[in-house]
Amino acid sequence: MCGIVGYNGKNKAIDILLSGLSKLEYRGYDSAGVAVVDNEIDVIKSKGKIINLKEKIKDLDLFGTTGIGHTRWATHGEPSENNAHPHISNDGTVTLVHNGIIENYQELTEKLKKHGYTFYSQTDTEVLANIIDYYYKKYKMGPIDAINRTMVRVRGSYACAVIFKDYPDEIWVARKDSPLIIGTSKDGTYLASDVPAILEYTKNVYYIDNLEAACLKKDKVIFYDLNGDVIEKELKTIEWDISSSEKEGYEHFMIKEIHEQPDVIKKTINNYVSNNIIDFAKTNLTEDILKDIDQIYIVACGSAYHVGVCEQYIIEDLTRVPVRLDVASEFRYKHPILSKNELVIIVSQSGETADSLAALREAKELGAKTLAVVNVVGSSIAREADYVLYTLAGPEIAVATTKAFSTQLIVLYLFAIELAKTKGTIDDKKYKELITEMECIPDKVQSILDNEINNIQKISSEFASAKDAFYIGRGLDYAISLEGSLKLKEISYIHSEAYAAGELKHGTISLIEDNTLVVGVVTQEDIYEKTISNLVEVKSRGGYIITVSSDNIPIDKVSNYKITIPETNKYFYPSLTVIPLQLLGYYIAVSRGLDVDKPRNLAKSVTVE
Ligand code: F6R
Repeated sequence: MCGIVGYNGKNKAIDILLSGLSKLEYRGYDSAGVAVVDNEIDVIKSKGKIINLKEKIKDLDLFGTTGIGHTRWATHGEPSENNAHPHISNDGTVTLVHNGIIENYQELTEKLKKHGYTFYSQTDTEVLANIIDYYYKKYKMGPIDAINRTMVRVRGSYACAVIFKDYPDEIWVARKDSPLIIGTSKDGTYLASDVPAILEYTKNVYYIDNLEAACLKKDKVIFYDLNGDVIEKELKTIEWDISSSEKEGYEHFMIKEIHEQPDVIKKTINNYVSNNIIDFAKTNLTEDILKDIDQIYIVACGSAYHVGVCEQYIIEDLTRVPVRLDVASEFRYKHPILSKNELVIIVSQSGETADSLAALREAKELGAKTLAVVNVVGSSIAREADYVLYTLAGPEIAVATTKAFSTQLIVLYLFAIELAKTKGTIDDKKYKELITEMECIPDKVQSILDNEINNIQKISSEFASAKDAFYIGRGLDYAISLEGSLKLKEISYIHSEAYAAGELKHGTISLIEDNTLVVGVVTQEDIYEKTISNLVEVKSRGGYIITVSSDNIPIDKVSNYKITIPETNKYFYPSLTVIPLQLLGYYIAVSRGLDVDKPRNLAKSVTVE
């Protein structure tokens, strides 16, 4: 989705803007632009990648120290230079970049046309520049008044950065339901939709809330509420390391992030476990709260939803508390039936996914308790949920999630174990046993990375031209098959489906023909024989079988190709089986010569419905 960045300080703005925009590329975009204040406000935009924008800029003298920039992911209007941001009000009084969607833009456009405004783009954003201009001139009460009147008038979501021609030394920002952080350092003030854009310059940030505005001066930031009153904000420190948003010698962020998994899994466990005891105290998720939970709903999108599929099996089996599950885009509109003692768990890496955020609000509205499992500190979902369990994955840049997924699994294993202890469904011995085994996961993940990569690379090059793939398994193996299948299709563009192994012969098996790629995940001791029977059925119809399993499962006969993982407790297999599946998706996409980190049509953080 769109990204925004801004700088106001002592240094040349254009360098900081371009570096920030490059760091936001991973979010997905199809045009880019900047505005820099020199004697006038220079606006430069281009269609396509940032390299095109750089090409246009390279011969220009842009010495200004105040500027804003944008990467646009087209929603209203095609990707084009004309529709790219920044947008300018009719006479150039207001220059603006915007993330989000203005839902009532057509109505506002009609209103402004009656007042003589002309529109030159197909975007919803142009109306924002003109309506600010309209209020600015009508009431003549300065930027904050015009911005606040606009916030009251527009519907939808926005994080916007505005430069007024009359105030060339200031950048104004406003926010509702779209991510925005504001940074500060001795060299100036910064704004960005996402931490990596400014991490090189500062780790000191302010989080701006919904319906608040701010003025970024060169040496300070002033915050305002909707009444125009000045408000105080606390300066926070970002814990993320700058190196985590660099490739550090890896060919892609995705493979770097796959390799980071042992480390971030360990960090996430250590954040909540000491001396073999889980401690959620700092999250206020106390024993009293857990005791009262008699139903759970897990709601998320995409891979985060697959975490929910895994955890549904685990939580129900360990705690006997019923768990329902839904994708957020369905949950938010289905009028869910929630009980007073229901806990709704929202899983989200970014903490900004529009449907997940809406689902959280719906759950709160209906009186349920809400728990967020989130990676980005200070994100909207983290701020609005009753309780937060953070994953410590660090910044995830590749569009296809890997390390965030793995840490989400960990956090919810911990939750399941703690809930089981509170409910008395496991004894102390089992509790300690599970934690001890969990602590071995990082080393086991590392051993898969050390031992299986060459094999997976080989098989990936053989299957680079596959047209279809099927991933099958039962129970937790089915849950992880969903994720493996998504990993393959989203970056390699190979059609792929995941099936509960027993379901295949109710229709889909008719698609199996000679050399159809079938990945069987087979780890669960109580049901592996049944999955093997399903694999035999597939093999006898010509399927080429890759299996992922541990040595204790007698799988050799059915496998055309076997990927071996270490043994672990039955609940923790998803943390191990997902690793070869991520690698398979990655190396097949690489063999096809694709842009693995930025797959077509996808955005890292889906902030629109
Ligand atoms: C797939 C992927 C997506 C996200 C989904 C939710 O690799 O990354 O399916 O899992 O868009 O995003 P978050 O977790 O940010 O809410």
